[in-house]
Amino acid sequence: MTDVSESPRPSKQEEAARFALRSLFERRPIPDADLLDHLELFLRPQRIAELLALSDVYQRILDVHGVVMEFGVRWGRHLSVFSGLRATLEPSNFYRRIVGFDTFAGFKGVDVADGLSARVHEGAMSVTSGYEAYLGEVLALHELESPLSHIRRFELCKGDAPAALEAYLEGIRRRLSPSRISTWISTDPRRTVLSFFSLTLCGARFWRSTRRCTRTSPVR
Ligand SMILES: C[S@@+](CC[C@H](N)C(=O)[O-])C[C@H]1O[C@@H](n2cnc3c(N)ncnc32)[C@H](O)[C@@H]1O
Repeated sequence: MTDVSESPRPSKQEEAARFALRSLFERRPIPDADLLDHLELFLRPQRIAELLALSDVYQRILDVHGVVMEFGVRWGRHLSVFSGLRATLEPSNFYRRIVGFDTFAGFKGVDVADGLSARVHEGAMSVTSGYEAYLGEVLALHELESPLSHIRRFELCKGDAPAALEAYLEGIRRRLSPSRISTWISTDPRRTVLSFFSLTLCGARFWRSTRRCTRTSPVR
């Protein structure tokens, strides 16, 4: 047994199991037509734990008016889960938008406070070129299978998250009349809360800036 601070993550055994599972996935004897309905077969325990955790967090915002934001979506798996949770847990809430922010070009503006991990550097965790369009198509199809499918309720905001968030909030300010903003504030302060999840490690500069944006937003 190694000291926890020294032990590699994942362990050699986990790494080997993941490799073997990927290889079984690539050699699956399951027809393509059945694949999407049986993807759970390949979900590792960690992924199932994450689904449960996301569901738990989502259930805590059911009585709070606002949107779900994810900063750092990468391939978009959480956005897809949030879309499914919304369809299941609040099928008639047409206000609940799911908004994903990402450069779609990897880490931007790495800060010393992000630490020295080899995985943290400018451009790390980028996706394939034009991926946001593909992700948009996937999310649109999920909404087509959900209640209120005629209302588009997701947005992908591409760019450096602090600036993209400012632009997104500015768009909301323009759409809302000043009287509506004050109604929100005076009737029920909870209705002004942005349901704000930061589910990823995206750099300390990014974290500080997004906190600043949400604190100063007039729709709070
Ligand atoms: C760890 S990955 C996100 C993983 C994702 N939440 C998941 O669970 O699959 C970090 C993401 O943050 C994005 N990112 C990093 N810095 C960013 C910034 N300043 N603005 C927007 N996105 C950023 C990267 O492009 C990357 O997709």
